[in-house]
Amino acid sequence: MKTTVDPAHYREVMGHYPTGVAVVTAMIDGEPVGMVVGTFSSVSMDPPLVAFMPQTTSRTWARLATADAWCINVLAHDQLALCRAMAIPSDDKFASVDWQPSVLGAPVLTDAVAHVHCRPHANVEAGDHTIALCAVEAMDVARPVTPLLFFQGGYGGFSPAGMAAKADADLIAAVRLGDRARGHVEALARTLACEAAALVAVSPDELTTVVSAYGGTATMVEPMGHRVPLIPPIGEAYVAGGTPETIDHWLSKVAPNDADLVDCYRARLASVNEHGYAMSMVGPGARADYERLGAALAEYASGELTPARERAVRSVLAETRHFFEDVDLSPDEIYDVGAIVVPVHGPDGHVVMVLRATQLPAGVTGRVAAGWVQELRHAAQAVARDLSVGAGAVRAQDYRDWYDSDFPL
Ligand SMILES: Cc1cc2nc3c(=O)[nH]c(=O)nc-3n(C[C@H](O)[C@H](O)[C@H](O)COP(=O)(O)O)c2cc1C
Repeated sequence: MKTTVDPAHYREVMGHYPTGVAVVTAMIDGEPVGMVVGTFSSVSMDPPLVAFMPQTTSRTWARLATADAWCINVLAHDQLALCRAMAIPSDDKFASVDWQPSVLGAPVLTDAVAHVHCRPHANVEAGDHTIALCAVEAMDVARPVTPLLFFQGGYGGFSPAGMAAKADADLIAAVRLGDRARGHVEALARTLACEAAALVAVSPDELTTVVSAYGGTATMVEPMGHRVPLIPPIGEAYVAGGTPETIDHWLSKVAPNDADLVDCYRARLASVNEHGYAMSMVGPGARADYERLGAALAEYASGELTPARERAVRSVLAETRHFFEDVDLSPDEIYDVGAIVVPVHGPDGHVVMVLRATQLPAGVTGRVAAGWVQELRHAAQAVARDLSVGAGAVRAQDYRDWYDSDFPL
């Protein structure tokens, strides 16, 4: 065990303990002032006391400390934008924030889960932070929805065990949709001597394998239920034909300060739309990187990713993006194709699933690879035709209805 604790280690260990997210507000000289705290906590029931712990150097705390009343607003799962607005140092944090004065005069933030109306009780100096004890005068639950949570530097939500039932229902809808592609996927696996699969989005953040089949010497690597993250550059064949919201959501997972990378992914989406497929290559010597990518995807698929591990997976995906760069196939050159993915359009024109071929025979000419692309595109067109007639059309629409509806955090 360590006896001296360096700040990074302190942060790393404490990051494993999740917190809620609250905004402490007050009126100072007629202006609303607020700061985000993850350190809000109940302290005493009799008398009713709560606390939060501002950093001694915080400019916002220096102002809040002069108030005679505060409102502590517990943020809801859908208030991440509000949290960000309140956490960034600015003199105009309330510019686009809805609020009303509380019984004690402090700003009550609209749509927060709960409000605690309190007055300063005592400040306890505690190293580089102050424990600000607050005497509670009134409190209420304004909107009983799940709160915003903060964990390992990432935001998330709380899901009670019963939520699994909804996830199961979504998965069943996706599996039924995928079932329409079964015959075509099996034929592809046989004809191309590869692993063929149909993947459907069961949430805005991931695709799930709903049908898989094996031909030639392909072995079972990604069986039914396997999850693939919709994190750039993964999922481009699905995202390229999606709504602007789908595209923005996908691109929002790139580090926001990396504008070049965002441009690079936008160009990839345009290229997928133009050609009608996405293809990745495994060049000579690139096996190790390809395996790293596979390991990162497998870790994601395990479904137990904490925010810290998710960041690590994302950076491996970004580092291995060269697999997804555009290739102009020349007929007589020899290629090692990693994967070919084609979108399947539903009756309303949106992409509803993708067909993917992997474990393809290595060392083939561009002519052969182009033939594979054609096979996949024909299969995708056949599935799209099946979806547009009879029960298929209804199922695809059901699926879109679900997908467009509010997705709980
Ligand atoms: C989720 C989250 C939790 C935070 N918790 C605290 C906290 O408990 N105490 C604190 O002093 N700052 C906390 N901060 C940082 C402040 O909200 C704010 O960014 C910082 O005080 C801005 O600096 P300034 O007050 O000097 O303008 C937190 C920020 C976030 C995003």
